[in-house]
Amino acid sequence: MKLMNAFKLLAATGAFFLIGCKAHDNNPGFEYAPNMYHSVAYEPLKQIMDKDAGKWVNSSGEDIGEYYSSNPNNPFSMNMRVPPANTVKRGEFLPYRIPKDSLEYASRVLKNPLTGDMDELTKEGGVLYGKFCLHCHGPKAMGDGPVGSPPADDPNGVPPFAGVANLQGAALKNITEGHIFHVITWGKGRMGSHASQLNQRERWEIAMYVKKLQNQ
Ligand code: HEC
Repeated sequence: MKLMNAFKLLAATGAFFLIGCKAHDNNPGFEYAPNMYHSVAYEPLKQIMDKDAGKWVNSSGEDIGEYYSSNPNNPFSMNMRVPPANTVKRGEFLPYRIPKDSLEYASRVLKNPLTGDMDELTKEGGVLYGKFCLHCHGPKAMGDGPVGSPPADDPNGVPPFAGVANLQGAALKNITEGHIFHVITWGKGRMGSHASQLNQRERWEIAMYVKKLQNQ
């Protein structure tokens, strides 16, 4: 019998807590430790526009709730302001503006902006080359990657992707890093643009690695 009473007590306590937690459309339920849900500091992407929110824990001394964080002048009900058009994040490269058809110009004027441990950057370029270029251009950039050269068992000798440039050939051996950067950015002929896969830093690193291969 004692056990039965203990069960009843347990059930009653449980029900009490469950009722406390119940939430529906107009009632958020009872919150335990509300400061864990509601930031007292302003949150960048949302505003709490209800002046009564958090009134019961008010410490501001004013007649508005602790969680009220509305700035009626900001658009989109956000506390954060939208940056002005064409804003560039700090530490980022400016957008690349040389148009696709100006390869000759780009190869003449572009200078590699990267600084630091150039060997380390070239090494990173090598890893990226292995992921984004090698399957077409081959390990030594001779245009003989697995996609650029015919399969060994193909009697007709047709590569899956024809016309991959041999970057060790006389015509391309002496191209500048800027030339390579421009081609990675825009693509050329049958080669597509890689600008959406590689940011500017990564493109320069790859250009350095290709130059290293060409100079070996
Ligand atoms: C899908 C295969 C493919 C991939 C991947 C590829 N390329 Fe190419 N690449 C080509 C082809 C094909 C050409 C020849 C383009 C033409 O002139 O028609 C070429 C040409 C080039 C040229 C010579 C451009 C010139 O001035 O003639 C360079 C430099 C180059 N690629 C670098 C790269 C680098 C660096 C990567 C990796 C980010 C890469 N390619 C990825 C297929 C590819």
